[in-house]
Amino acid sequence: MKILITGGAGFIGANFVYHILEKYPSYEVICVDALTYAGNMETLAEAMKNPKFTFVKGDIADRDFIFPLFENYKPDYVANFAAESHVDRSINDPGIFLRTNVIGTGVLMDASREYGVKRFHQVSTDEVYGDLPLDRPDLLFTEETPIHTSSPYSAAKASADLLALSYCRTFKFPVTISRCSNNYGPFHFPEKLIPLMIANAINDKPLPVYGKGENVRDWLYVKDHCTAIDLIIHNGRIGEVYNIGGHNERTNLDVVKTILRELNKPETLIAYVTDRPGHDQRYAIDPTKISNELGWLPETTFDTGIKLTIQWYLSNRKWWENILAGEYQNYYENMYGDR
Ligand code: NAD
Ligand code: DAU
Repeated sequence: MKILITGGAGFIGANFVYHILEKYPSYEVICVDALTYAGNMETLAEAMKNPKFTFVKGDIADRDFIFPLFENYKPDYVANFAAESHVDRSINDPGIFLRTNVIGTGVLMDASREYGVKRFHQVSTDEVYGDLPLDRPDLLFTEETPIHTSSPYSAAKASADLLALSYCRTFKFPVTISRCSNNYGPFHFPEKLIPLMIANAINDKPLPVYGKGENVRDWLYVKDHCTAIDLIIHNGRIGEVYNIGGHNERTNLDVVKTILRELNKPETLIAYVTDRPGHDQRYAIDPTKISNELGWLPETTFDTGIKLTIQWYLSNRKWWENILAGEYQNYYENMYGDR
């Protein structure tokens, strides 16, 4: 079997590359990644030593690159992780989100149709459902929850989902979609809440909490996301959407305080800053469908996962310090300088 993994130099894609190489040693894994600011070859250093792994640099929205690539490798499976993934960046510059997340998915699906891909898996997000109120803990996102997006990022991801479902109905295209809650774990780019707070806390820098820190996210350890996608690709029903999440809801303030406690740092490092425009209040996934149909259950609780993650950042300082030393400094100044 040959599996093409797009966005494999990013956070979740790389964790998925390692999951597949370990679990299916006979599979040939081809990774395509444009190496944007979020893509990092250091993340793939171990994979590059594996003869079953091939890395190709390129843009999923570039038809002239993607079609010859499919002609050359003729993958059986495609797992599309490649995306612009940060909500704050989508507020500052929506255009690239449309190009990569919508056009890129369309180009990949066209090539997959042309070259007879057996399964195309679209990695989507719970953000396509919008948000839930803070005072209704009984409400959860199911696969039937209407699409109701808040940010250019989530609108672009929802557009790709709709395009994928339209290809399934119109062309009998063999697609599955997963919508996962917030991930955390190794190789997470330090623009996102958990790795940013860990890096700042280690460096005794202020921890910028948006608004009052009351917003709620439903955290899933990245390796549990990878096992879920593996199950969907191999056993999921074509044309179906599967929600992925593990009932690990936390307010942002809880998460930040946990990180400070684990690192033995004072809460005086917390700095409340101007809120994100259109900030979604609460996400919470109902994973009943994937549990009942595919037998998926998350293995890592938040209490365990956050300890593992903090330990990973302490043991892999070079990985994130290299990022902090580069273009990231301009990003940080622009995003947080006078917030
Ligand atoms: P990431 O930003 O860490 O990585 C994205 C990767 O895609 C990077 O390696 C980047 O170089 C690559 N890429 C970007 N544009 C590209 C293009 N035009 N062509 C080829 N490669 C390109 O993102 P992530 O957090 O790993 O998210 C991966 C996927 O999972 C995304 O589709 C995202 O929407 C989805 N998702 C993320 C989360 C989360 O909590 N991070 C949760 C649910 C779903
Ligand atoms: O739910 C899945 C989504 O989770 C994915 O689709 C996205 O790709 C991923 O980035 C993530 O989106 P969020 O916007 O929820 O993640 P982020 O880490 O940016 O923010 C998490 C929460 O923390 C959110 O309520 C905003 C808040 N926050 C974030 C940052 C970066 C802060 O308070 N301060 C910060 O500096």
